Amino acid sequence: MAGLRESWWIGDVEVPSRVVLAPMAGVSVQAFRRQGRRFGAGLVCSEMVSCAGIEHRNEKTLGYLRVASDEHPLAIQIFGSEPRAMAEAARMVEAAGADIVDMNFGCPVRKVTKTGAGAHLMEEPALAYAVTEAVANAVSVPVSVKMRRGIENGSRRCLELGPRLVEAGAAVLTLHPRSAKQMYTGYADHTLTAELVSLVDVPVIASGDVGSRAKAEAVLDATGAAAVMVGRAAQGNPWAIQEIISGDAEQPSREEVAAELIHFIRETVRELGERRASGFLKKFYAWYLGYGRFPKPFKNELVQLHSTDEVVTRLLAAAPGAAALVERLEADLPESEILLEGMPISIYGGG
Ligand SMILES: Cc1cc2nc3c(=O)[nH]c(=O)nc-3n(C[C@H](O)[C@H](O)[C@H](O)COP(=O)(O)O)c2cc1C
Repeated sequence: MAGLRESWWIGDVEVPSRVVLAPMAGVSVQAFRRQGRRFGAGLVCSEMVSCAGIEHRNEKTLGYLRVASDEHPLAIQIFGSEPRAMAEAARMVEAAGADIVDMNFGCPVRKVTKTGAGAHLMEEPALAYAVTEAVANAVSVPVSVKMRRGIENGSRRCLELGPRLVEAGAAVLTLHPRSAKQMYTGYADHTLTAELVSLVDVPVIASGDVGSRAKAEAVLDATGAAAVMVGRAAQGNPWAIQEIISGDAEQPSREEVAAELIHFIRETVRELGERRASGFLKKFYAWYLGYGRFPKPFKNELVQLHSTDEVVTRLLAAAPGAAALVERLEADLPESEILLEGMPISIYGGG
């Protein structure tokens, strides 16, 4: 089994570790991705971006295509069901600077599946093939597909579809082996991931329920996957990535937690603007301050505050030592390369 720190390749893109940060709608903003890279993720991914939004040059959608210099390698994920529009979106994604164009064939949310996109494509193998082929032919960067196991519980559709998508040009497949019907209930059945690995000659990324080094090693060992993907375990908890990569299980101090959160808040405000960021960030307060790191009433207090400045002031009062750590984080921040102007929108849902 490859070590978690070992690099691997997706086409000609070198991925420096075996941990991939999951695309998560409403979560995977640039600050989240940068932080993931800083804590050791070898590859990070944007949340799903609507190809229709890109096609119509929706200003908000184009905001998702901002890429910073310290994010690479980075995948930008698109969703849609029309081969021509997906190809056009893929060209934009490549032009924006993504190293990989990822396609979402796993989103279980009705708002997406009813348009024929997301997990719906698993029921339409010919269309899934056509979309993949059109996207692969449109760009020179590697393309990837992220799937669920299928729509219905117990479905094995991913095993039929996976090899066909590789034929169509996918250079890597990610499998989250839950059905779309399951949403996030039950567990990810990685025996399917192992079967998929045995059927294709491209790297496979195993997604689902990986939150510790022990689990990452067990999944890599049992499946032969090239990498694990980490999603929910990294929400407000980049230290999970560190633990998986290095085995360092030491819990962060309150100062470290406060500093990461303050840095995250400031970057997100720069990215989304104060008005959107103040609402967007509330769930992150609960995530960061959980794990017994801060008392519950403190968390509840932060959520009630009106501005992010007030939140930062309150955090610094609770953990004064965080100020010096934040300064260090800010000093390391490169200039963002904002290639396309516009504010992001969010379609919560996922894959
Ligand atoms: C809030 C949330 C949003 C998600 N959004 C996306 C998405 O935009 N695209 C996608 O392919 N998967 C999305 N997913 C699925 C994750 O990428 C991942 O496959 C899934 O959460 C299982 O991994 P985990 O157990 O490590 O969280 C989302 C998951 C969550 C929890």
